[in-house]
Amino acid sequence: MNNFLYKNPTKIIFGKNQIASLAKELPNNAKILMLYGGGSIKSNGIYDQVKKGLADYEVVEFGGIPANPEYAILMEALEIIKKEKITFLLAVGGGSVIDGTKFLSAAASYAGEPWSLLTDRKPVLAGLPFGTVLTLPATGSEMNSGSVITRAETKEKLAMGGPGLFPVFSILDPEVVRSIPQRQLANGIADAFTHVLEQYMTYPIGALLQDRFAESILQTLIDVAPAILKDPSDYQAASNFMWSCTMALNGLIQQGVPSDWAVHAMGHELTAMYGIDHARTLAIIAPSHYRYNLESKKEKLAQFAERIWNITEGSVEERAAAGIEKMVAFFQSLGIDTTLAAYTDSYGGTAQAIAKRFTLRGWTGLGERGALSPADIEKIVEMSY
Ligand code: NZQ
Ligand code: ZN
Repeated sequence: MNNFLYKNPTKIIFGKNQIASLAKELPNNAKILMLYGGGSIKSNGIYDQVKKGLADYEVVEFGGIPANPEYAILMEALEIIKKEKITFLLAVGGGSVIDGTKFLSAAASYAGEPWSLLTDRKPVLAGLPFGTVLTLPATGSEMNSGSVITRAETKEKLAMGGPGLFPVFSILDPEVVRSIPQRQLANGIADAFTHVLEQYMTYPIGALLQDRFAESILQTLIDVAPAILKDPSDYQAASNFMWSCTMALNGLIQQGVPSDWAVHAMGHELTAMYGIDHARTLAIIAPSHYRYNLESKKEKLAQFAERIWNITEGSVEERAAAGIEKMVAFFQSLGIDTTLAAYTDSYGGTAQAIAKRFTLRGWTGLGERGALSPADIEKIVEMSY
């Protein structure tokens, strides 16, 4: 196992009716900017619950943060934060609203051009404090310090983060799941599943507990997927779904082990270029990524096949390959297509364009061994057509 240093300061308030405890978590005399998305919170009752908790506070609202939070829109919110002298941010939404809020937390006291927070990739050490009310289990953003921001003008989607960008608290009420559309439920399951894979599907390092943690999250997602898709108001299924998504990317399973994240790097480009939902880009890229890197990942792929899918027959290579096919079938069982051609007709040249972008950014060694060159990336993306 590798050395590690782990600190996660986010307070989690989990369970039914917990949005009512919001007021207890907010700092006295805070001037709050409440941020939300396209309006789902107004029709499912979450907006009213949050407003009740904010009754004794001075609150400014900023709605309209779109999926894949857009830089130009966030810049409007930044103006408000400065003009209104906001002291606390409250994100009410899924990964997009929470990520947008993290960016604003960092940008509020940043002297330079805010976009350079994303291009410089310097860890953010401090920001405006913020809390979240999660409305969509998927990204784990509610308990991590990462953020992914999109800029339509340049068709870019880049990540930032740092120890200063953990939420102070996050309220996780699984009852919010009941109003989530099928497409987003499937996305949430696939995104969390792939987060585990990025931190697990590397090479063995003798981290027995981390492997079992990772496998238990994968197994739980597989177990609850049919129930959640059939009936999102199934509280038992929703609570397991929600906690699995949080645990998949709150840093715990990443400690002491190598991690990959190349699937996400390629996937983000597909969203930037074609607007494909984040989780679906992962389901497009992951199969070819694992097929292309089968040799260097075969031990963990075979372990995944054996422990998750009960594949015990055949050589390591055969079990590894069978594990990949099971993963593809799982994505498809969620109703998610796993080839780029299923999402766009104009996919020609995508692989070359992504390889070129990575070269320009100096991303010349991706993956857990830092061994994937832009030429490798080009082949993987091409295999995903
Ligand atoms: O905008 P509204 O109207 O609220 O509708 C949203 C949105 O259209 C809807 N929704 C959310 N909660 C709902 C609901 N609809 C009904 N009932 C509810 N309770 O769902 C749609 C998608 O929301 P979004 O926040 O975009 O989804 P998600 O949570 O999947 O976030 C995706 C974003 O997170 C980034 C992705 O790249 C993408 O930009 N990621 C962030 C990560 C992180 N910070 O750690 C890691 C991930 O790998 C990912 O990259
Ligand atoms: Zn993701």
